[in-house]
Amino acid sequence: MDTAQRYRAFATREVHGHSAIYEELAGRAADDEELIALIDQLPEPKRQPNLLLASVRFLGGPVDGYRPFRSWVIAHWDQVSATMLRRRTQTNEPGRCAALLPLLASLPQPLALIEAGASAGLCLYPDRYQYRYDDRPPLGPSDSPVSLTCRTSGPMPFPERLPTVVWRAGVDLNPLDVRDADDMRWLECLVWPEQRDRLERLRNAARIAQAEPPHLVRGDPNQAVRDLVSQAPRGATPVVFHSAVLAYLPSEARSAFAETMRSIPGHWITNEGPRIVPAVEARLPRSAPPGRAVFALALDEQPVAFAGPHGQSLDWFQETVDTGASGLGNDTPLGLRLTDTL
Ligand SMILES: C[S@@+](CC[C@H](N)C(=O)[O-])C[C@H]1O[C@@H](n2cnc3c(N)ncnc32)[C@H](O)[C@@H]1O
Repeated sequence: MDTAQRYRAFATREVHGHSAIYEELAGRAADDEELIALIDQLPEPKRQPNLLLASVRFLGGPVDGYRPFRSWVIAHWDQVSATMLRRRTQTNEPGRCAALLPLLASLPQPLALIEAGASAGLCLYPDRYQYRYDDRPPLGPSDSPVSLTCRTSGPMPFPERLPTVVWRAGVDLNPLDVRDADDMRWLECLVWPEQRDRLERLRNAARIAQAEPPHLVRGDPNQAVRDLVSQAPRGATPVVFHSAVLAYLPSEARSAFAETMRSIPGHWITNEGPRIVPAVEARLPRSAPPGRAVFALALDEQPVAFAGPHGQSLDWFQETVDTGASGLGNDTPLGLRLTDTL
């Protein structure tokens, strides 16, 4: 896919229906040869539409109409390209905790949470947010500034109580610091302009993290995850999890990460695109719904649900496919034999 196609696809498939202004900017940029030629000067992974748009907002450029946007980008290309080279798409979405929660609550408590690709670590506070699954009574602290709603279907094991988290740690190629004003502003610029609810959620989750920052290390997830698991407090169940991360790793690095995860103690929760973790993909009981982006949520490589990419929905599987190769065997901490009951 060339850069123009990439921007067109972003406009029509990703932001359509979510951000009218980004749809216009990316759609018109796709037809703008001068702008595409500038973007093409960057290394291929740095040409992402969301990286350009967030960088322009980060620098205070206009994103309210195509003509002022393109004039500003061309006039300030040195600053724009430097920001795109220095920064990454690191959208941190605490809403994903609504997808993780049923699995976290099912594990032997207390938990030591270790997140791979943590960004600023806002998914490391599942015990600090309040949850509303369908029209059930809210779960979690009533004074939490973060309230997550999630629509469900299927035989979802609704958590009765929040998990007890005694340790929070993470690794990222570039950990962001919730106490750093520039990092926070970058995270805010990654939220699409019309998504005021997500922006508010991000700011409120960051306030929680600022009061008790997570232990985040910079580095390669393979080595760091092993080290972090070995540092988890005794008596706590280590749980390594990640969402919207493995797609950034080349397939050899993903395979190496899976091998690492199979060789260390504790549990492994993946919340990634349905085709990103091969052992999960092989066990999916049905195809991902067409025309709707979903993640495959899995515990120890056993898929349990399709999750909305921001944790806004959970479609729990009625059935699972047992290839006999699960790292879990067939008994899960849900206290269920997945193949019998789900
Ligand atoms: C889209 S963000 C998701 C952040 C967080 N997991 C969430 O769900 O909100 C992806 C994160 O993965 C990190 N990342 C990408 N490639 C990585 C790698 N090879 N090793 C460690 N982290 C990586 C990025 O820096 C970024 O913070």
